[in-house]
Amino acid sequence: MFKIIHTEFLAPDVKLFRIHSPKIAGKRKAGQFVIIRIDEHGERIPLTIADSDVNEGSVTIIVQGIGKTTKQLNKKKAGDYITDIVGPLGKPSEIEKFGIVAVIGGGVGTAIAYPTAVELKKAGNHVISIIGARNKELVILEKEMNETSDEVFVTTDDGSYGMHGFVTDKLSQLINEGKKIDFVLAIGPIPMMKRVAEITKPYGIKTVVSLNPIMVDGTGMCGGCRATVDDKTVFVCVDGPEFDAHKVDFEILTLRNRAYLSQEKTSLEKFISNHEEAFKSGLIEECKLGHEPRY
Ligand code: FAD
Ligand code: NAD
Ligand code: FES
Repeated sequence: MFKIIHTEFLAPDVKLFRIHSPKIAGKRKAGQFVIIRIDEHGERIPLTIADSDVNEGSVTIIVQGIGKTTKQLNKKKAGDYITDIVGPLGKPSEIEKFGIVAVIGGGVGTAIAYPTAVELKKAGNHVISIIGARNKELVILEKEMNETSDEVFVTTDDGSYGMHGFVTDKLSQLINEGKKIDFVLAIGPIPMMKRVAEITKPYGIKTVVSLNPIMVDGTGMCGGCRATVDDKTVFVCVDGPEFDAHKVDFEILTLRNRAYLSQEKTSLEKFISNHEEAFKSGLIEECKLGHEPRY
């Protein structure tokens, strides 16, 4: 059993957890993830290690309540336990001195991009961060990105904060203004990562994305996370999760992620109806239910 040391909501149903896990805290590198199981009946879900504290022996994860398991996790508070946490998994991010780098985080993708932004800065890069969300309330880690970046741009879809538009609009604007960018890391919804790849490809800007397929074991054994990169099958959990954006087949990734949509919907509806009273009485009031994925 692994103890939850600290929790806080960063945005509606986006919650930060510090979980006691000293071995993982001591080994993890930027870009790696863990697979957790809330209880013995729980499904296994992958979550990026946003940070770690070797002295406290903790790893930080930031979770968007999107379906049954993530909403169930977001009900947990400091002092509660989860059954399993396995990691660090996946290959660490490739950190080099590229020159001028743009780190692009779409929604909760900002939490996944953050640890790599820290390492890119430490490696001597000039870091431009572009972080976006649907509205002001959903912008996360702006302060942390400011601390690790030379320039930060915020976009919101509804214009309630920062530039009105998508993160990709800001990227296009910078490139059109003649900003020289040597490397792009983009993490967020699949349509966003696909669009970033389309924007940077004509300019030959090396671009890396972090893929988010459905995962089961996270160790290359089940094949659940397979994706197509450079016309070859890869297992994202062991070959990635980061890949050359110009070689990823985003259509296949989208189709595979939709494979269990009806089962996921049923599972979430059952979870919500089982906890209806708690939601109504405000016991789980921070876990707002209205944040629907767009695809
Ligand atoms: P499910 O029941 O599996 O899904 C609920 C609904 O959400 C689905 O019906 C679908 O409409 C939508 N949905 C779920 N996954 C996707 C997707 N990938 N693309 C589009 N729509 C989707 N999430 C975080 O919040 N924080 C992280 O740090 C994080 N890191 C990840 C790292 C890796 C390597 C991977 C592969 C994924 C990561 N995720 C992260 C995503 C997270 O694992 C999923 O959101 C989680 O497994 C969903 O489980 P669930 O049971 O709550 O929802
Ligand atoms: P969201 O749908 O609110 O989008 C966040 C931002 O991404 C938007 O504000 C916009 O700037 C940009 N964006 C969205 N759609 C776009 C498009 N079609 N073209 C260009 N830019 C676009 O995101 P959310 O609800 O916070 O969810 C985050 C997403 O990240 C989820 O879809 C989740 O599946 C995905 N995710 C990815 C990873 C990963 O490793 N890549 C991990 C966890 C979650
Ligand atoms: Fe099973 Fe990657 S999750 S092979």
